[in-house]
Amino acid sequence: MIIIRKFQPQDFQWVIDIERKVFNEHDPYLYMQFYETYPETFIVAEINGFVVGYVAGFLAKEGVGRVFSLAVHPSYQNRNVGGSLLKEIIEIFRSMGVVEIILEVRSGNVKARRFYARHRFSQIGIKEKYYNDAENACLMKLEIK
Ligand SMILES: CC(C)(COP(=O)(O)OP(=O)(O)OC[C@H]1O[C@@H](n2cnc3c(N)ncnc32)[C@H](O)[C@@H]1OP(=O)(O)O)[C@@H](O)C(=O)NCCC(=O)NCCS
Repeated sequence: MIIIRKFQPQDFQWVIDIERKVFNEHDPYLYMQFYETYPETFIVAEINGFVVGYVAGFLAKEGVGRVFSLAVHPSYQNRNVGGSLLKEIIEIFRSMGVVEIILEVRSGNVKARRFYARHRFSQIGIKEKYYNDAENACLMKLEIK
């Protein structure tokens, strides 16, 4: 059973371990800052007492939510953990008056692009050489009511 709940400071090491396994590109300190600044939109998924995924988002401006990072431990992917996290943050954003959610994803990350498309995000642009290694980002958007 998946438990979706708010991030707590004791989850920090789990989150960093997942981040290192799937991205290895963010400064760990960013996640503590995230918790301090945007505690309402930093969510984790727990299975059998293990934190297996997280999503960190924030209110970019009034009405606009942004997903900064979403990741699921490789051993727990394809079990709807990512889908559950995304649905939760969409509902939280909705309750904050958000009408559109935007995010960037690496253009070569076919799995994540398909995942977001299945959750009705559309590609609205490309940010050239957005990442440190010069890969392009696809800018994706979901409109919500
Ligand atoms: C992208 C990512 C977050 C998706 O997480 P996930 O937990 O694997 O997502 P889900 O399980 O909800 O969905 C993944 C697939 O599993 C399938 N699936 C979900 N539950 C399933 C089930 N019970 N039985 C069979 N298939 C299932 C879904 O159909 C989905 O198919 P898709 O490839 O068409 O999207 C994850 O792959 C990840 O962490 N990737 C690395 C980091 C990353 O790229 N993050 C996004 C960029 S910010």
